[in-house]
Amino acid sequence: RAALAERLAAVRADRQVEDDAVATVGFVPTMGALHEGHATLVRQARAENDVVAASVFVNPLQFGDPADLENYPRTLEEDLEVLAEAGCDVVFAPSVEQMYPGYPDGPIVTVSAGRMGEVLEGASRPGHFDGVCTVVTKLWNLAAAGTAGAPLRSYFGQKDAQQVSVLRRLAADLDLPVEVRAVPIVRSPEGLALSSRNSRLDEAGRQSALVLHRALRSLAEAAENGEVVDVQAARQMIAEEPGVTLDHLVVVDRETLEELGPELLCQPLRREALALVAAHVPPVRLIDNMVLPAA
Ligand code: PAJ
Repeated sequence: RAALAERLAAVRADRQVEDDAVATVGFVPTMGALHEGHATLVRQARAENDVVAASVFVNPLQFGDPADLENYPRTLEEDLEVLAEAGCDVVFAPSVEQMYPGYPDGPIVTVSAGRMGEVLEGASRPGHFDGVCTVVTKLWNLAAAGTAGAPLRSYFGQKDAQQVSVLRRLAADLDLPVEVRAVPIVRSPEGLALSSRNSRLDEAGRQSALVLHRALRSLAEAAENGEVVDVQAARQMIAEEPGVTLDHLVVVDRETLEELGPELLCQPLRREALALVAAHVPPVRLIDNMVLPAA
C-alpha cells in the first residue's frame, strides 16, 4: 500500500518539484476498462498539475450485485496504455487484499455518504455511495502521503453527477485536504455517454440507449429557449423506446441535487438545473445527465 505514495514521491524527486511551493499532484481514481472519458480526466489532470497519478481498482464495496462485480470488465494491460498515452506518471492498481486486508471480513470501519447516498442513484443501489466514499477516502490518503504537503487535486467525471456532489461533501465535511474537480461528460459521436458498461450492450441496445441523450437534449433545448421543460414528455419518449426501461428522469438543483417540484417546473427555470436519467438497457443500467440553463 505504500506503493502509491513512494512512487509519487519518486516522480516528484525526479522532477525536482519537492521545493516548489506550488507543485501539485493530480489524481484520477478509476475502476479500469478505460475509455476516452477516463483519458479526458487524465489529460485535464496532466494540463493542471506537475505530477499525475491514477488508480485502477474495481472496488467491491460499491457493488450491490455480485454478478455485476464479477462481470465488470477488467482490461489492465490496455488501461496502462491509455494512461501512459494520456500522460499519467504513476499508476496504482492494488489487489482487493491490498486495499481491504482480510476482505470480506474487513473493512469494519467505513465512510457513510449519509442522506446524499440514499437518494437518486443511491435509492436503487443501497450502500453504493458509502462504498465509493470509503474507497476514495483511502485512495486520497494513500496519494496524499506522497505529495509531501503539496495540494492534491482529484478529478471526476460529470457523467456521475451524484458521485461528484457526494465526494465534494466528503472532502468538505471531513476536512480532507483535497480539491475535487469535475470534468464534462465525454460522448460517442451519436451522443451516448461513454461508459465501461457500454461494452456489454449489443448493437440494438446501443441504438436504443441513444434515447437517453435525445430525451435530455429535448429538455435542454426547451430550457435554452426559455420554455417550460416538459419532464413528463421526456419520460414518455424513453418509455416508448423498445428495449429500454426507465428507472428515473428528474430535474434537480445543481448543487443540492434536490428534485424540483411541479411548482418550479411549471414555469421557465429560474436557476440552472440538472436533468438526471437512469434506465435499464439489458444487461446494463445506464445513467446520463445534462445541465439545463436558467431562462
Ligand atoms: P469509473 O466508473 O471507472 O469512472 C472513473 C471516473 O471516470 C469517474 O469520475 C467517472 O465519472 C469518469 N467517467 C466515466 N465515464 C465518463 C464520461 N463518459 N465522461 C466523463 N467522465 C467519465 O466512478 C468510478 O469509477 C468509481 O466510483 C471510483 C470513483 C473510481 C471509486 O471506485
